[in-house]
Amino acid sequence: MGSPYIVGVGKTRFGPTSKSLQMLAQEAILSALTDANLQPEDLDAIIVGNFLGGPNEHQLHLNSVIAGLFPGLNVPSWRTEAACASGGVAVHQAVLALSQYETVLVVGVERMSEVVGMELTRNIGMAGDVILDQAAGLNFPANYALVAQAHMDQYGTTTRDLELVSLKNHANANLNPKAHFYVKKVSQSDVDGGPVVASPLRLFDCCPVSDGAAAVILSSKLRDSRSVPILASAVSSDVISLVQRPTRTSFPAARDAARRAYEQAGIVPADVSLAEVHDCFTIAEIVAIEDLGLAAPGKAPELTREGETAIGGRIPVNASGGLKAGGHAIGATGVGQLYELITQLRGEAGERQVAGARVGLAHNVGGVGGTCSVHIVGGL
Ligand code: COA
Repeated sequence: MGSPYIVGVGKTRFGPTSKSLQMLAQEAILSALTDANLQPEDLDAIIVGNFLGGPNEHQLHLNSVIAGLFPGLNVPSWRTEAACASGGVAVHQAVLALSQYETVLVVGVERMSEVVGMELTRNIGMAGDVILDQAAGLNFPANYALVAQAHMDQYGTTTRDLELVSLKNHANANLNPKAHFYVKKVSQSDVDGGPVVASPLRLFDCCPVSDGAAAVILSSKLRDSRSVPILASAVSSDVISLVQRPTRTSFPAARDAARRAYEQAGIVPADVSLAEVHDCFTIAEIVAIEDLGLAAPGKAPELTREGETAIGGRIPVNASGGLKAGGHAIGATGVGQLYELITQLRGEAGERQVAGARVGLAHNVGGVGGTCSVHIVGGL
């Protein structure tokens, strides 16, 4: 792969809002354009990452909805859907599209908070197999509970290990004004008092239901000193249901995407300065750290206990607060991870700045490991 660049980034705050899908997307796009010092007419193509526009919003044909924010801008546009990895896969498509277009906008957007309870759980559940998962009532908290149980059985991981992930990511979110739980302070007693959602996962092991948008602008040309090279862009996939897999403690799609990405970038896991990983549930961060080779299988809890994944640790994970506390506006999540990495690599992350950040890795998972994208940005 050549060296595509991210030349502009923008993001709304994640969390419940009354803003429409269009308003959220527009806010993120305009801030990315301003960041890149570009005008809408400079865009050659638009890719929209979104998962629930149909079931939640009764709005499909989102590429036209978003392109229509700029009347008269008649450029190629399309929507990418890969469940919770919609954003990461959209960025991968943008990298591929740079062989044909010079400047490509990716916007990830989702609205979830107005659809409540069982209806939302059912809609999110569409990312699982309709017979093996949905008909069996195996929703996403239940799926990740099975992953947690397997990790506990195989490696002796404890609920305390999961709590440490939650407490770290909530503390990081308190330093991130765009995080869902920026204001909410979470203590040990809050975590202890959280109701069980799907045993062993309790409330504070789960990501929240967020609205939001994030945008990145890719270019095949270096624009200025704030442009950040994309060193690798990889996607892999697997059977959709956990029940079809021989192991539940690791996601082969994530391992494969990571292998491809490290190869493309010509680096090893030890070269990564910070990672934004898909912690839709606390156990997912543990599994991600191991799948990415940042810790050996079964060793991510130890890395977390030793404080090595905190800001200031050896490999800060989810300095933004992650999905757990930064929020999970599904179609926007993978794009938002790159917003965070670029902000960090430019040294513009304020109180949550990771010192000496040079190489950032983003890991975005669809469903329970059916899809995974891995991006590596920065330079050694
Ligand atoms: N973590 C921490 N606090 C949370 C929370 C979470 N995940 N979800 C809700 N809360 C808090 C709210 O802020 C609110 O606090 P307040 O009373 O101080 O305002 C309180 O809990 C009640 O919020 P409510 O929206 O009524 O919660 P809920 O019981 O309807 O939903 C979950 C809780 C865990 C079921 C919901 O967040 C959920 O479904 N999360 C997973 C989403 C998902 O599956 N995404 C895809 C992943 S693959």
